[in-house]
Amino acid sequence: MKIYFVTPFPQLVKSVLGESILRRAEEKKLVSYNIVDLRQFGEGKYCQIDDYPFGGGTGMVMMPEPLFKAMDWVCEQIGDEEKRVIFPTPQGEKYTQDTARELSQCEYLVFICGHYKGVDERVIETHVSDEYSIGDYVVTGGEIPSMVILDSIVRLIPGVLGDEESARTDSFFHKLLDHPHYTRPKVVRGMEVPDVLLSGHHAKIDEWRQAQREKRTHERRPDIWEKYNKEKIEMENEL
Ligand code: ADE
Repeated sequence: MKIYFVTPFPQLVKSVLGESILRRAEEKKLVSYNIVDLRQFGEGKYCQIDDYPFGGGTGMVMMPEPLFKAMDWVCEQIGDEEKRVIFPTPQGEKYTQDTARELSQCEYLVFICGHYKGVDERVIETHVSDEYSIGDYVVTGGEIPSMVILDSIVRLIPGVLGDEESARTDSFFHKLLDHPHYTRPKVVRGMEVPDVLLSGHHAKIDEWRQAQREKRTHERRPDIWEKYNKEKIEMENEL
């Protein structure tokens, strides 16, 4: 998978790509990253990339021309190959694990990282294929949402994760939240590990973990709980 980022903050993107799973995926040559510094396409002596909004109001808007030029360059690199151009924005459709799964099949992805009040709509209309929101809150700029989306995609590319870790990702949204985890020591600051986990009784441990997953999901995520129960009933009816 070849991934491009158009951003006025290339260092921010670079720092995230240089660690952990995202870095390992590149080292294994399963992905390649290309960071495009939007300022290079800015206008005038100060490489301007934002301007006042037509119609007035507070905040600045990202100018169309630097983004068009940056995207012309990206499109030239990609040629006629099929690509998805992702623009993270609170106005986008909700980003989910299903979307991650779909995007993990693509060969070319381009992320446009927005800033300030927004991006001139004409750029979105002509170049963006996917607008996603990572949640109902606002963060500063599109880099962090792009990294969230990217990480969720890259970890689904075969070979990026070990088998055990991929299995855990697979089970997540289709089932329940995870159960609590414990490691040594048995007692830390007066807090003990639940007895059942020390019992060596695997069937009992599985039962405890399943009960914990159900309890957590029920309490914390009624939306997932409802979906889980609906699917369970449907499966039972099919049998
Ligand atoms: N940019 C700022 N906030 C965002 C959000 N919640 N999702 C996607 N992009 C964003």
